[in-house]
Amino acid sequence: MHYPWWYVPQLTAPMLIAVIAVVHVLVSHYAVGGGLFLAVEVGHAYRTRDREYLAYLRGHAAFFVLLTVVFGAITGVGIWWIIGLSSPLATEVLIRTFVFGWATEWVSFFVELLAAFIFLYYWGRLPEKKHLAIGWIYAVAAWISLVLITGITAFMLNPGRWAIDPAARNFWTALFNPQFVPQTVVRTGGALLLSSLYVYLHASIFARDGRIRNVIASRSARPALLGAILITAGGLAWYAFLPDSAKATLASSAVMNVFAGVLIASTLVVFAMLYLGPYRNPGWLSPGFAGLLFLFGIAAFGAGEFVREAIRKPFVIYNVVLSNQVLPEQVPQLRAGGYLNDGVWTRAFVAEHYSDVMADGRIDNKRLLDLPYKDRLVLGKVLFLHHCNDCHAAKRGYSAVGLLLQGRPREQTRETIERLDDNYSMPPWCGTSEEAELLTDYLMTINQPRPAGIHPLMKSGGESVDEYGEME
Ligand code: HEC
Repeated sequence: MHYPWWYVPQLTAPMLIAVIAVVHVLVSHYAVGGGLFLAVEVGHAYRTRDREYLAYLRGHAAFFVLLTVVFGAITGVGIWWIIGLSSPLATEVLIRTFVFGWATEWVSFFVELLAAFIFLYYWGRLPEKKHLAIGWIYAVAAWISLVLITGITAFMLNPGRWAIDPAARNFWTALFNPQFVPQTVVRTGGALLLSSLYVYLHASIFARDGRIRNVIASRSARPALLGAILITAGGLAWYAFLPDSAKATLASSAVMNVFAGVLIASTLVVFAMLYLGPYRNPGWLSPGFAGLLFLFGIAAFGAGEFVREAIRKPFVIYNVVLSNQVLPEQVPQLRAGGYLNDGVWTRAFVAEHYSDVMADGRIDNKRLLDLPYKDRLVLGKVLFLHHCNDCHAAKRGYSAVGLLLQGRPREQTRETIERLDDNYSMPPWCGTSEEAELLTDYLMTINQPRPAGIHPLMKSGGESVDEYGEME
């Protein structure tokens, strides 16, 4: 509320978080598991004096550093930008709660970067033991990053005691939230599994020597299967420690049903392909097989990540910050004094453009209804952006309100607003009844008619949108 609004047409700003987060995790898990792969396999190649394998691993390390350090770091910073812009209050709460965790994370990230560059660029120039030690430093630092970041994302899904008991609000209760262990197990398994899929894909294309391909296929099959087992075990615990509302959304939302189905089905396929392919028949590792395995892995990860992001509604941080950037404890005050009044930017906007409605520096809600119709629409739109646009596009686009309303009459639309949390995916209405009127005015201009051609007996008796004309 104390921040300006970032309007992203069609998609909505929070959907950008989902997009960048999914892209990022596809690389960041490889950044962790791939480090472990390199440390273990380079050690193996040194011990067995396998020069050809070592040469392959050097090529893999270059690919690994390029992808994880450049792409991983850019998308990681991209997440910071996007969450700061689209969920400023939630980001603020996370920063306040986890300053120490983030500081530690940045130190381990710095160690990671340094170790990655030394590992690659001093290859062959360092004594074997030292080179290997650097590889292990990378692997451990990368896993520590995973643990810390997972603690923070797990907190958003279920902060547990931290959210409801003010006396329990400290860094440690926040980090060791109910989702911490389940998600750390899932992500550790994810790192093992996904990195194996990258390794298979890379090896199937670049390891020309069939012997090397076989070594890789059979040596990486066990960690990959272990990863799949950890994901399954952690996933069950993840479900067990979900808040009830998230479980209900998972069960009741059609989109979530589909994504959860994709997640389970593609995990099973990955499991079967790993077992039948690399584990039982290492010779199967062709680019086609590895590519297909990789695609199913990506599908599973993408679906899993999307579900994790989407079932938190109506909160961004469960029980702490509502998606419309409001704290639950602020709601009564907003309902009494007005949503526009409480926001630094919204109040300044009203004061600048509609000084008539101001009294003693505050908005007099009664006067809002005296505004000319077109001004009511402007403020209605401001309310829509701040109150609804986190989850709904306007006329068209992601979960567009204009389409969800589909010709709903004015009176019912207004009722929907004032009883918004009748639907538990939505926050309670956080404004005055006058503000609800303005928002209704605006919604009626984007309200899309019911599709034509439906049997006349099924037509609702409601007003048609056309009565309100074309008002954008
Ligand atoms: C936390 C996210 C969130 C916010 C904020 C939110 N909604 Fe929703 N809304 C949802 C979800 C989820 C659904 C279910 C729709 C679906 O399945 O696609 C929904 C459904 C709806 C529907 C159709 C179902 C119904 O109950 O009539 C309307 C209309 C609607 N929202 C209007 C609004 C308006 C107006 C606002 C702002 C005052 C708003 N929503 C704010 C998440 C949200």
